[in-house]
Amino acid sequence: MIKKGIILAGGTGSRMSPLTKAVNKQLLPIYDKPLIFYPLSVLMLSGIKDILIIVNKGQLNQFRKILPNGKNLGIKISYAEQNKPRGLPDAFIVGKKFIGKDNVALILGDNFFYGESLTKKLKKCIKLNKGAKVILHWVNNPSSYGVAKVNNKNKIIKIIEKPKNYFSNLAVTGLYFFDNNVINYCNKLKPSKRNEIEIVDLLNKYRKKNKLSAELLGRGGAWLDTGSIKDFYNASAFVSALEKRQGLKIACLEEIAFNNKWIKKNNLIDAINFYGKCDYSHYLKELIKKY
Ligand code: TTP
Repeated sequence: MIKKGIILAGGTGSRMSPLTKAVNKQLLPIYDKPLIFYPLSVLMLSGIKDILIIVNKGQLNQFRKILPNGKNLGIKISYAEQNKPRGLPDAFIVGKKFIGKDNVALILGDNFFYGESLTKKLKKCIKLNKGAKVILHWVNNPSSYGVAKVNNKNKIIKIIEKPKNYFSNLAVTGLYFFDNNVINYCNKLKPSKRNEIEIVDLLNKYRKKNKLSAELLGRGGAWLDTGSIKDFYNASAFVSALEKRQGLKIACLEEIAFNNKWIKKNNLIDAINFYGKCDYSHYLKELIKKY
């Protein structure tokens, strides 16, 4: 069972410069809320309440202003700083103390997930006891991502970063579930040509032991990358279209916490006071009226 989760929310955001020169990408808006709300909502939907957010050195206070310590959401949020972006598996080196002897989930701070039965799938993933699991999603441009091939038992048999030759359309998304061996494996990783430790190298360590499995998001689900400015605005447009049509918010953290029975009505009132007069607060007011 996985009870701890890490959000990797540092990075240089170089593809989004100049937007990211003064503000970290994860604090920029996807439509009506900061990007970081989306990966945090995914961990909360899976039932994880103990969360470490890894941020760039010097940016802690910015994040704390919007996500202080999690008490307002009935969860525990702690922070750690990464000196420089050393690669995705660095999350487990920076987060070593937080992880302790437990299993852990990792979500990249700029990853967006949405879809029918997502929560059900997430709850299945956190049942992991041994090995590692990744979420895969069908894309039409696999050469831009880590790509995996699975057998009929959803075991990963091949995984390559940005393959030049086509072998599968299944991209490795930024949501992973690991047993505690992840810490040992990370210590053995060597930096790649771009001088980063690579998530695919880490996943291959599990694959070689036949311990890497996959969960597919399925074609009813959406996984959006928010790395480039174009992708970023596409994600905003996606959220805006759905929220306007349904009148339901994606990644409203207080709503998820309330539905999970982690907070009570008075916490929703506190949240309304915190956010002030805005659309988001209005949504929370309507939520209170419904119950
Ligand atoms: P990337 O997309 O690799 O990098 P980036 O967001 O800094 O953007 P760019 O390529 O435009 O410079 O990272 C994916 C996510 O992981 C992103 O949210 C930043 C985060 N990250 C870290 O926090 N630390 C790291 O060492 C790396 C490599 C990424």
